[in-house]
Amino acid sequence: MKRENMMDCITVLKHGGTENLIMTKVQIPIIDDDEVLIEVYVSGVNRPDILQRKGLYDPPKGASNTLGLEVSGKIIKIGKKVKNLKVNQKVCALTHGGGYAEYCKVFFKHVLPIPKGMSYIEAAAIPENFFTVWYNIFYIGQIKCSETVLIHGGSSGIGTTAIQICKLHGCKVITTVGSLKKQKYCNKIGADLAINYKKNNFVEEIKKYTKNMGVDIILDMVGQKYFTKNISLLKDKGKLIMIAFLSGSVTKADLTQVMTKRLTLTGSTLRPRTNKEKAFIAKNVYKRYWTALSKKTIKPIIYKIFNLKDADKAHKLMESSKHLGKILLKIKKEEKK
Ligand SMILES: NC(=O)c1ccc[n+]([C@@H]2O[C@H](COP(=O)([O-])OP(=O)(O)OC[C@H]3O[C@@H](n4cnc5c(N)ncnc54)[C@H](OP(=O)(O)O)[C@@H]3O)[C@@H](O)[C@H]2O)c1
Repeated sequence: MKRENMMDCITVLKHGGTENLIMTKVQIPIIDDDEVLIEVYVSGVNRPDILQRKGLYDPPKGASNTLGLEVSGKIIKIGKKVKNLKVNQKVCALTHGGGYAEYCKVFFKHVLPIPKGMSYIEAAAIPENFFTVWYNIFYIGQIKCSETVLIHGGSSGIGTTAIQICKLHGCKVITTVGSLKKQKYCNKIGADLAINYKKNNFVEEIKKYTKNMGVDIILDMVGQKYFTKNISLLKDKGKLIMIAFLSGSVTKADLTQVMTKRLTLTGSTLRPRTNKEKAFIAKNVYKRYWTALSKKTIKPIIYKIFNLKDADKAHKLMESSKHLGKILLKIKKEEKK
C-alpha cells in the first residue's frame, strides 16, 4: 500500500481495557457514490465507544470497526451522487463508526454544515447528542412545552443537550446527577431542579417539587436501578424513554402502574438505524437547532479535549464519570483565520 493512501487511526487491539487502544496506520477509506470523505479535525467520544472497546457492543453490519460516531472536519472528496455539499466545506457529521482517524467516510445526508461562528471543536460535540435527544424526547416523546421532563444523567453529553433543548422548547426540566458540582452546573444551563442522587432520594424530591403530580416524560440511561422509581414518578399517560442501561437491563418489577396509569415504555438506539432514518433525524435537527446554535442560545458543553494518540486517557475519564459534558479527540489543528 502506498504511503499516501495511509492514515493514523486508533485500533482496538483486542477487547478489554484502555491499553488496547493503539495508534496504527490503516488505509484511507474509499468512498461510494453517495458518500463524502472528511478530513477529521475533531472526533467525539461516546459511551458506546467504551462498550465497543470492551466487546460488549458489536458495530452493526456494514459499519466501520473503527471507533468514533461523530466528527467535524473538512470535506476533501465527494461521491458522484452527493448533493448540496462541496469540497473544502467545513462540516460535522454522524458517522457509521470510523471517527477515531484522520479521514472518515460518511453518507452525505448525515453531514451538516458547521453552524455559523462555531469552531470544529464545538461542532464535533453536536451530532450524537442532538440526534439522540431530538429523536427520543421530541419525535418519540412528542413533548409539549407545558410538560415536565425528568432527564437522568443530566451532566452527560446527552443530559446537557437535553436540558438545553427542553428549556428552549419551554418545558420544565428536572435532572439527576452524581455530585454537587454537576448539580450546580445543570442549574446554570437551565435545569429547574437538579438532584444529587448520591445525597438525596430523587423520588421524594420530585414528588415534593411537583406536588405529587410527577412528570410527563423520563429520558433514562440507567435502567434496572431506576425502573420501578421511574414508573412511580410518571403521570397518567406518561412516557418512559430508555436510551441505555448503565446499571443493567434486566429487572423484576410490578407492572400494575403501567396499566393503571396507561404508561408508554419505549426507547431507541441510533446507530443501527437505516441511512434514510438517520437522514430524517439530521434534517430535523438542522431545521430546529442550527439557528439557536449559531446564535449561541444553546451550545455543546465541552469538558476536555485529548490528542488522538491519548484516546485511552479519554476513555478512562469517561469511565470515571468525573466529566461534565463532552470529551473530544483532536486530530488536526484548526487553521488560524
Ligand atoms: N440509545 C441511543 O441512541 C444512544 C445514543 C447516544 C448515547 N446513548 C447512551 O446515553 C448515555 C449517555 O451518553 P453520553 O455519551 O452522554 O455519556 P456520558 O457523558 O459518559 O454520561 C453518562 C453519565 O451517566 C451517569 N452514570 C454512569 N453510570 C451510572 C449509574 N450506574 N447510575 C446512574 N448514573 C450513572 C454519570 O454521571 P453521574 O456522575 O451523574 O452519575 C455519567 O457521567 C450512555 O449510556 C450512552 O450509551 C444512547
